[in-house]
Order: sequence, then C-alpha cells, then structure tokens
Amino acid sequence: MEAEKIELQGPTNKALHEAAEKILIENDLGGYSVPNRDVYPFQWNWDSAFVALGYAQFNLDRAWQELETLFKGQWDDGFLPQIIFWKDNAGYFPGPEIWQTNQQPRTSGISQPPVVATILRQLWEQNQNAEAEEKVKQLIPQVFALHRWFASFRDPLKKGLVVTTHPWETGRDNAPEWDEAAKRVDTSNVTPYVRQDTKHLDKKMRPHKEDYDRFIAMVEFGRDAGWDHKKIIEESPFRVADVGMTMMLLRANRDLLVLAEQFGFEGEAEFLKNQISLSETGVDYLWNEEKQAFCSRDVISGESTGIISSASFLNFYADVGSAEQRAATEAHIDRIAKVSQFLMPSLAPGEEQFDAMRYWRGPIWAVVNYMIATGCAEQGLEKWADKIRNDTAALIKIAGFSEAFNPESGEGTGGTDFSWTAAMWLHWAGK
Ligand code: GLC
Repeated sequence: MEAEKIELQGPTNKALHEAAEKILIENDLGGYSVPNRDVYPFQWNWDSAFVALGYAQFNLDRAWQELETLFKGQWDDGFLPQIIFWKDNAGYFPGPEIWQTNQQPRTSGISQPPVVATILRQLWEQNQNAEAEEKVKQLIPQVFALHRWFASFRDPLKKGLVVTTHPWETGRDNAPEWDEAAKRVDTSNVTPYVRQDTKHLDKKMRPHKEDYDRFIAMVEFGRDAGWDHKKIIEESPFRVADVGMTMMLLRANRDLLVLAEQFGFEGEAEFLKNQISLSETGVDYLWNEEKQAFCSRDVISGESTGIISSASFLNFYADVGSAEQRAATEAHIDRIAKVSQFLMPSLAPGEEQFDAMRYWRGPIWAVVNYMIATGCAEQGLEKWADKIRNDTAALIKIAGFSEAFNPESGEGTGGTDFSWTAAMWLHWAGK
C-alpha cells in the first residue's frame, strides 16, 4: 500500500530558518558546537562537520572555525576523536576520567565517520577566495593524516574497508548490525557506572542496559590497551566492517583527492588513488547475495550481518556497485517506501529488530537522509532524492529540530534543538 501523503501545516520556511540559525548560535560553546546542550555537552566529530555546512549558509567564518576547532583534538598519529571534552560537564557519561586517553585537549579514544573531507571540499567550492584558500591548505594535511590513520588502523583486511572496534565509532550506536558481534564482549568485569543519558531522555528511546554494558566494556578494553590502536584492531572482541563508514570514507577519499590535486599535494594523491581503487573492489565483501544489499560484516566470524539499515543505501553516495547491485538497492528503497510513512528509517518497519522510537533501530536521521539523497540525486534517482528531502523537511515541520524522527508517526525522538538537524535544514532540506 502506498503511504498516505500528510498535509502539512506548521511554521513557515522563514520561521524555521530563523529557528535553525538560533539553535546553532545557542549551541556554540566558544568556537565549537555541541550537538545538544543537555544530552551531548561536548564537541562531536561528525556532528561538527555537518554543522559547518549549516553555518556556511549564514556565517562562513564560523563554518571554518568549526572544522578548525575539531582538528585541535587530532592526535599526533592522525586519529580524530569522536568527542573533544573542552569543558567539564557532569551530565554526560562516560566522561574523560573513564576514557583516560591522556591527551590535551581531553578526548575519547574512538573516532567517528570520516565525512570531514567531503565537507571541506563543499566549503571550498561554495566560496573560493584567498582566505578560504589559506584555510583549505592548512586543513588538507590534517585531513590527509586522518585518512592515513583509517588506512593504518581500521582496515586490517587491506580491502579499503572500515573495520570498527566500537559501535559508537560508526555513529549508529545501537544499530541492530552490532547485536550479534557484540555478544562476544564480556561484560562481567564492567566497573559499575551510572548512566546520564536516561536522566535527560525517555528510556524507551535509548539503548538497552545490555547494550550499554557492552559499550562501556569496549571503552574499558581500549583504555586497558592504553589506546594503542594497533593492539585494539588486532585484539578487540568486537570487529565489524561497517558499510556506513566504508561508503563515507570512500567518498571522502575521492573528495580529498580532488583537493589534493588542485592544491599540489601530489604525494597524497597517489595514496588516495590506491585507497579508492582498493575500496571500489573491497566493497564486494559487504555485498550480501541473499539479501541483495550492502550490509556490514563481522570480520571475526566472517558472517554478514544480513541487516539492511539506512547505511545500506550509501553506495550511491560512494558511487559504487554494479548495475545489478544498484538496481537491487533501488528496489529496496521502493519496498521500504511502501511500509514506512517517511524515508529513510534506520531500520524498516516490519523487520524483527524494528523499534520506531529507539535511536538507530527505526528512527530517521536527517544527516543520513542528506547523504542518501545526495547519492540518489547524483545517480539520476531524482524521484528518491526528492522524496527523501521532502520527507526530511516534513519531519522538521512536524517535530522541530529533533535528534531523530519516528518513521511512522513523524514524532521527534531523542533530544530537541539539535545542531546537525538544524544544519541540515539550512544547507539542504529547507532550501
Ligand atoms: C549519538 C549518535 C551519534 C552522534 C552523537 C551526537 O551518539 O548516535 O551519531 O554523533 O549522538 O549527536
């Protein structure tokens, strides 16, 4: 059955634009943005990258600054952390005293999806002037070091994939893709802890205790390994090749290559070309023949997760897949559009693990929609690009700048006044 079209009444686009700008300004804690002031009171890696796109619509200097502050958290080996703990805040767990990464500024010990090169290219291409040239030239080596870090410490199979050692690193914290692999994580020795997230938000929206124990056990595993990333990728009980990060890194490598060639970083260009061609064939390791979709794969057991999540649709964004693989992916979009009021649910209604309110097990995320729609538009799938963008705009009209959205009712899930949702409105959905 075709989903019914919802008639929207709500704030005008102009009012939403103003509200979105206000959110970004209020979530600025001094040259960096927090995703949300209560639940996430520090700087988050991929959130900041998307926030820069939002800022670029009304304050370009501030957009550049967002990336510059993010890279102040980069480690000497190129690693770019998931969180930078600029100021103390007792309302978040696990804080720096749990991670113990021994860095200045204080950071967590895992990374996040490397979208920053793609966004750097966008900022540059939107506004090419002498000042922007200076900024882009400063950032290229730092982004390049990050991509090298991924190649060195997150691609043990040397296939151009991203193998993650913590679900938080993927940005899709409690996605069902991690369920089986995370069972290998021993939680019997987890230090007792008190969650903070469920103090801010309804428990039904947040990961279950069992998942949280595993998240913390994996943090303690990294901490006990002294955040030695070589040791961690070799010995972690959780190692999954993530379809989402792999596709995002592939695109980011292409974008960085364009910048490297334009600005004369020839040495880097060779490395990037190699990585790109490795990934172009490497992604076949993620193809699940039975499901006819790109799915994350557990590299310890070698088993495909067989889960078709919203990340499975990022192959268009990465411009990979044979004609058959692309057609099969499109057929899945068509199928899901028939069972979900709005696209693109993080997991489709009807799937066994689907939960319309629980974070990455159903709700829709504006940034993921943006990437899927961008890929669809680039591949000539305008119908889906438009639908995903219209749905995102509709959700924001219904529920405001929520962290995520229930794919069936459109209601907001997670925190409110969310930076990256506001940024996606300004940059894309509200245009
Ligand atoms: C949650 C999301 C993650 C995001 C963070 C801050 O942990 O799963 O993707 O970066 O919140 O918004």
